[in-house]
Amino acid sequence: MAEHADAGSAGHTDGTGDPVSSERIVAPGADDLERAAEAALRPRSLDDFVGQKIVRDQLSLVLHAALGRGAAPDHVLLSGPPGLGKTTLAMIIATELGTSLRVTSGPAIQHAGDLAAVLSSLEEGEVLFIDEIHRLARPAEELLYVAMEDFRVDVVVGKGAGASAIPLSLPPFTVVGATTRAGLLPAPLRDRFGFTGHLDFYDSEDLERVVVRSAGLLGVPLAHAAAHEIAGRSRGTPRVANRLLRRVRDWAQVRGDGTLDLAAARAALEVYEVDRLGLDRLDRAVLRALCTRFGGGPVGLSTLAVTVGEEGETVETVAEPYLVREGLIGRTPRGRVATPAAWAHLGLEPPSDGLFAAV
Ligand SMILES: Nc1ncnc2c1ncn2[C@@H]1O[C@H](COP(=O)(O)OP(=O)(O)OP(=O)(O)O)[C@@H](O)[C@H]1O
Ligand SMILES: [Mg+2]
Repeated sequence: MAEHADAGSAGHTDGTGDPVSSERIVAPGADDLERAAEAALRPRSLDDFVGQKIVRDQLSLVLHAALGRGAAPDHVLLSGPPGLGKTTLAMIIATELGTSLRVTSGPAIQHAGDLAAVLSSLEEGEVLFIDEIHRLARPAEELLYVAMEDFRVDVVVGKGAGASAIPLSLPPFTVVGATTRAGLLPAPLRDRFGFTGHLDFYDSEDLERVVVRSAGLLGVPLAHAAAHEIAGRSRGTPRVANRLLRRVRDWAQVRGDGTLDLAAARAALEVYEVDRLGLDRLDRAVLRALCTRFGGGPVGLSTLAVTVGEEGETVETVAEPYLVREGLIGRTPRGRVATPAAWAHLGLEPPSDGLFAAV
């Protein structure tokens, strides 16, 4: 696949699309090698993409219909928590269409002019991947509406009162936007995507398939029970599953006899402090703060984030969705609350006047 980042001031993602916040299981500071290892495990085609059957089927229809018509498909928005395959799918879309992928991201586009430069350099049928699209600045967003709908960009020439906008028409192209926070996208932008795929956490069967596939690619023999154990502790997330697999491989190589069996998996996961539910340090810090510092809540997200020394957005997009899905915390209008399962998981007694009862 001819994949290239856009030139000029628009910048680009690192190609793996991984925000620092999702590095924490091997963190702090997972390095370039880690990213390269991740890129090597990316599925390259829709058939190779494990799970997410509904999104895969829908996307396959959109792409094949467009291919049949010989036209660029509608713009695609991919949303969901980190590490579930948004960047991977964007790359697959370009590959399936037999075209190249141009990569940029919301934070990389500082000014509308940066986006205009990227748009006006697009070639017919190309896919423009905009990662973290919810972080685009307002003026760039407005420029994008027009480009997506009318395939036109107004190039501003001159400055001040003498400035004028020259409309420049663009060849047909497809925007693939990715976001961990679809709710932050303004409605007019959301409406310009003809297809929205929401990626949800994977069940452990699918994660087991991810791990088995990755072990095959890495050329390491993986016992069935070990694959099962890793999958069960991967917080519903393929990125985490692949990371844990690599950590188990490390353990087996250094402390074991190279065999990736159940004992090696358990021992490695213990070293990396991944618990029975797959919760890692941040998850547990959030739970513990909620229970022990705030009596189970309710407490505002930003207060909780400060207490665990993290950005509010990290807690909200990385830790919280999985904790909510596992029934460990609840979201109420007055803030986050710990459920009885959270207390039980930490081995703590909930207070008898527990606020959760009031939810
Ligand atoms: N369905 C899948 N099948 C197999 N592997 C997958 C799948 N989805 C994701 N992966 C693996 O997980 C890793 C992370 O996926 P990806 O980078 O696409 O996530 P993302 O949704 O873009 O995350 P972020 O929001 O952090 O950018 C990839 O390197 C890939 O190997
Ligand atoms: Mg990504």
